[in-house]
Amino acid sequence: MKLIIDEESCTACGQCAQVCIRDNIVVDDFAVETGSNCFECGHCMAICKVGAITLKAFEGHEDRIAEYNPHEIPVGYDDFLQFLKQRRSIRWFKKKKIDEATFDKLFEGAYYSPSAQNEQDVEFVVLDEELDEFMELVYDIIKVEEEKFFRIKEFGNYLKDNATKEFHPLLWEGKQLILTFSTDKTSAVIANTRLELLAYSLGLGGFYSLFILKADEIGHDRLMEFFPEIDKNKHMYSSFIIGYPKKRFRRTIPHKDIQVSYR
Ligand SMILES: Cc1cc2nc3c(=O)[nH]c(=O)nc-3n(C[C@H](O)[C@H](O)[C@H](O)COP(=O)(O)O)c2cc1C
Repeated sequence: MKLIIDEESCTACGQCAQVCIRDNIVVDDFAVETGSNCFECGHCMAICKVGAITLKAFEGHEDRIAEYNPHEIPVGYDDFLQFLKQRRSIRWFKKKKIDEATFDKLFEGAYYSPSAQNEQDVEFVVLDEELDEFMELVYDIIKVEEEKFFRIKEFGNYLKDNATKEFHPLLWEGKQLILTFSTDKTSAVIANTRLELLAYSLGLGGFYSLFILKADEIGHDRLMEFFPEIDKNKHMYSSFIIGYPKKRFRRTIPHKDIQVSYR
C-alpha cells in the first residue's frame, strides 16, 4: 500500500479516484486504496480538498508540499511568450563561473518536470574542473566522424594545438557543461529545457551541443566509463553549455513558419 488515507477527514468527493490513472482508489463511504498499481504520481494527494491523502513516499519531504490557488496562473501568456521570444543561444560568456547554489536553483525546474511512467530517473552532471578531460574523451569517441563533420576535424586540430582557432570549436567560450542522463530521451530533454529556461530567467545563458551528444550515440559504453556513478542503462541525451552571457542580443528575428496540420 502506497497511500495513507485519513478516513475521518475524507469527504468521499471522489476526486482522487477520478484523477488516478491506475484505478487504484475506490470511494464509497471514504476513499480506499484497492489496487497495487500506484506509481506515486501524487495526483490523488494534490487534488484532495481536505488533505486526507498522503503518499508514504513523500514522508520526510513535507517541505515540498505547498498549497496554491488552483485558479491562478502565475505567469501570463504575453510575458511568457516575450520571454521565449528573447531566448537565444549564448556562446560568448564572462569569466565568472556559476556557483553550486545557482545550479541548484536551475535543477529546481527539472525537479518538477514530468517523466515517462513517472520514473523520475533524469540525472545531471555538471562538468567544470573535469571539462577538458571529458572533451578529450568526447573527441576520441566522435573522431570516427571527422570526415563527415568539419567541426569535429577542427576540434581534433584544436586539441593538438589550440592556436589553430581563436575559440574552442565545440564549447566556444563555455567553461561549464550540464549533461543530462536518463533511460528516456524525451524525459531528459524536457527536464533540460526547463532548467534552460529557468537559467534565462536568472540572466544566465547557454547552448545545446549536438557534437558532444554524438559521443553517446557512437560510443555509449566507453562514454559511461567516465561516469561510473550513473546506471549504464541511462543515456546522455542532452548537453548544455552554460554561463553568464557576455554579449546581449537586441531584437527578435524571423523564423521559418511552424508547420502545423489540423486533421
Ligand atoms: C539539439 C540542438 C543541438 C545544437 N547543437 C549545437 C552545437 O553543437 N553547437 C552550437 O554552437 N550550437 C548548437 N545548437 C544551437 C543552434 O545552432 C541554435 O539553436 C540555432 O543556431 C538558432 O539560434 P538560437 O538558438 O539563438 O535561436 C544546437 C541546438 C539544438 C536544439
